[in-house]
Amino acid sequence: MILVGGQGTRLRPLTTNRPKPLVPLVDRPFMAYMLEWVATHGITDVVMCCGFLADSMVEALGDGSRFGVQLTWVEEPEPRGTAGALKFAQEHLHDRFVMLNGDVLTDLDLSAQIAHHEQAGATGTLALVPVEDPTSYGLVRLNGDSSVEGFLEKPNPDEIDTDLISAGAYVLERSVLDLIPDGRMVSIEREVWPRLVGDGLYGCVHRGAYWMDIGTPHRYLEGTADILAGRVRTQVTERLKDGPVDPSATVAPGVIVDRASLVDRGAVLGPRVTIGEGSVVGAGVRIDEDVILENAVLLDGATVASGCRLRDCVVGSGARIDRGTHLSDAAMIGDGATIGANNVLARGIRIAPGANLPAGSIRF
Ligand code: GDD
Ligand code: MG
Repeated sequence: MILVGGQGTRLRPLTTNRPKPLVPLVDRPFMAYMLEWVATHGITDVVMCCGFLADSMVEALGDGSRFGVQLTWVEEPEPRGTAGALKFAQEHLHDRFVMLNGDVLTDLDLSAQIAHHEQAGATGTLALVPVEDPTSYGLVRLNGDSSVEGFLEKPNPDEIDTDLISAGAYVLERSVLDLIPDGRMVSIEREVWPRLVGDGLYGCVHRGAYWMDIGTPHRYLEGTADILAGRVRTQVTERLKDGPVDPSATVAPGVIVDRASLVDRGAVLGPRVTIGEGSVVGAGVRIDEDVILENAVLLDGATVASGCRLRDCVVGSGARIDRGTHLSDAAMIGDGATIGANNVLARGIRIAPGANLPAGSIRF
């Protein structure tokens, strides 16, 4: 089961009009990566636990067959929290199942974790990955036999004595449901894992695996670059084997396209355009002359006029960037917005979908 009930507020304006699982990442909705990943581990029945904008998700992901899985959709009457969602979906769960946070890009070895869970005779097994700063995650202390000694959700800096955190992938026995009260909001991190410590909760360390919570603009851009460079195992690598430019795109002479980028279907690149590493030119995007992209993401149908410099930024679907505008430093332009000529937008600025910024109005 995959938890997809959160609101994704930190990724606005990408998530203003779409749920986070549908945010486009390189050339497919984010959720496609998770579904393709579980399918490679032989998991074919997936329950999607939704709380927010479920209709658009059902429309976009359908029955899952495109991704090699069979989807069942469950919608909570109101957000029930990470454990409440599990309880609400209980009729669909087998005796042993995998539960995933729906906002993580990873290629960690789920099959190895399932084997680890079986060998330990565990009630629950948490995937663990090392991170530099555990403060925004669930910190996990392990005993020598890989049983969990302590679980601390969002630890204070002075409580940190390990770099291992819960990666949001769990193998669980159905008996876990007995620990979850029915019909109310329950957090699995705060109310269930602490009760299982010393009573069947284990950790499986995945060193060397790729793992990233893509929920902020900087991490979204980093994840994009990592997919394009093949630092995480995804089906995009397979697609890019024949080069970064889709055969249906139109590329003027003298255009430079980095190998770790993508110029998607029907895109049109004018003279002297440079598509640098980690950049995505979405389907149907049009770029005029003398434009430089570096780890910049242009979603479907965006247009960019001459002389723009776009670095570490996201331009939403159908947005228009006029001449000589510079975007950098995690600037996020909403779908359908118009940015007039000669604006300079940086420092994490976010422009709402459909907004209209006159020429030369902002140097931020
Ligand atoms: N269906 C449903 N209902 N899903 C929910 C709800 C809910 O009420 N609340 C949250 N979710 C989903 C989110 O969409 C997300 O996919 C997942 O549950 C985790 O919630 P987040 O809000 O993203 O939590 P977090 O990132 O702060 O922390 C969690 O993930 C970390 C790893 O990224 C915790 O599980 C930490 O322990 C963990 O380290
Ligand atoms: Mg999260």
